[in-house]
Amino acid sequence: MIETQISLKEHDESRQGEALLLEGKHDRQNNRKLYIESYGCQMNFADSEIVASILMDNGFETTHDYKSADVVFINTCSIRENAEQRVRNRLKEFESAKAKNPGMIVGVLGCMAERLKSKFLEEEKLVDVVVGPDAYRDLPNLINKVDDGTRAVNVLLSREETYADISPVRLNSNGVTAFISIMRGCDNMCSFCVVPFTRGRERSRDPYSIVKEARDLFEAGYREVTLLGQNVDSYKWDPKDEETSSIDNTITFAKLLEMVAAVNPLLRVRFSTSHPKDITNEVLYSIAKHENICNYIHLPVQSGNSRVLELMNRTYDRAWYMERVDAIRRIIPTCGISTDIITGFCSETEEEHQDTLSIMDYVQYDYAYMFAYSERPGTLAAKRYADDIPEEIKKRRLTEVVSKQRMHSHLRLKEQVGKTHKVLIEGYSKRSDKDYCGRNDQNAMVVFPVDQQFNIGDYVTVLGESCTSATLIGKIVNSETTVGA
Ligand code: SAH
Ligand code: SF4
Ligand code: F3S
Repeated sequence: MIETQISLKEHDESRQGEALLLEGKHDRQNNRKLYIESYGCQMNFADSEIVASILMDNGFETTHDYKSADVVFINTCSIRENAEQRVRNRLKEFESAKAKNPGMIVGVLGCMAERLKSKFLEEEKLVDVVVGPDAYRDLPNLINKVDDGTRAVNVLLSREETYADISPVRLNSNGVTAFISIMRGCDNMCSFCVVPFTRGRERSRDPYSIVKEARDLFEAGYREVTLLGQNVDSYKWDPKDEETSSIDNTITFAKLLEMVAAVNPLLRVRFSTSHPKDITNEVLYSIAKHENICNYIHLPVQSGNSRVLELMNRTYDRAWYMERVDAIRRIIPTCGISTDIITGFCSETEEEHQDTLSIMDYVQYDYAYMFAYSERPGTLAAKRYADDIPEEIKKRRLTEVVSKQRMHSHLRLKEQVGKTHKVLIEGYSKRSDKDYCGRNDQNAMVVFPVDQQFNIGDYVTVLGESCTSATLIGKIVNSETTVGA
């Protein structure tokens, strides 16, 4: 079965397969080289930074070239069938390198490791070690086991592990934007989704360690952090070992956002992903109140039809979702909204698909990630419902959704032309080092000519002059500068 994923956004799961460059210093050397490659969501990329940190503490250095590595790790994703296929194809490419260098250790990490467990060792003969997302602290020990001649597996999931005390090594970083994991796992049971099985139970990370990480990043010159979780609105931290008092000391996501925003007004705060059933007005008011919490919400709808949403076990219906969008527009009028959409879920009729198109018209999303349904073994949908929409119909519906989204993205960008935007300079544009690129508050990519007065990491005011379907093009206009450094 072929699976299709189309995204109109630049930084997303299509970053799959990036090889990661490790920055930073390490004290102990063991002369062994690590190569790590990541697939999947931002959380997986953030996890690779934790893995790198753990191994650098054990004396590893890193390489961009898997052929010269002693340890080759691939951090995998199971979300759709083609995500897994891509990993298997990549493993095949490692075979000849391993044949030339039999001492090379090949490790599979992440969601596919968790889903397939020791079966991986049977299926893929070149794999020496299989490690699930909650077992990365055990990596040095597992590598030792492989050195001693045994293939090793640790796929234990934990109810507590958040790696709160591990300082991630920033990988392939632009030095300006970084991710911070604020929670792990997921307690929802969306019927199509493999994540609860691969990532385990939801748990929130100590907020003070999150604030510390944000502060350290700011001091190192970073100017934007994205707080990551599968469902950030259910973030919850109850102070332990403290006497229960009448005061409610629980730290909610809204409070956490405010704590991170308070690190410095020049530190932008973003977050992902919000769940429509859980996003509260309290969060919306926090965003509205703080200039440095970005006016941008990723609010996956999945489907615009209430019956399909019920089959998906999303626990909201079309009316509820529309009300949440109305609340966002009311409380944060300039908010950018993006979404995820699945086409051709089990038993979805043509009329139900039309409901997805019509909810898109209602919201007019700034961006969307759009997918054809891909049945995942072990999920509720795989057990309960037939994957009965033919592939060509899934694809045709996907094409319709994609072309509507293209139109809306373009429309949204056109609205930004003629306005000024506060943009954080992230680097040079992909096409030319005569242009800078960065994002505005609503997360739109903005490209503008380099001005010698400014540097990467500075905030500038940019006037939008024109746009393509994915990028706003403009020029720097600020006289009173907000310099980020
Ligand atoms: N926690 C996020 C989603 C994480 S997975 C949320 O609840 O919204 C990212 C996206 O992948 C999902 O929003 C969904 O649109 C898509 N997805 C997940 N499982 C899928 C499947 N089996 N087939 C196709 N798309 C899927
Ligand atoms: Fe998957 Fe649903 Fe959890 Fe998102 S909220 S990770 S879609 S189970
Ligand atoms: Fe993929 Fe796992 Fe993320 S399945 S989307 S890498 S949580």
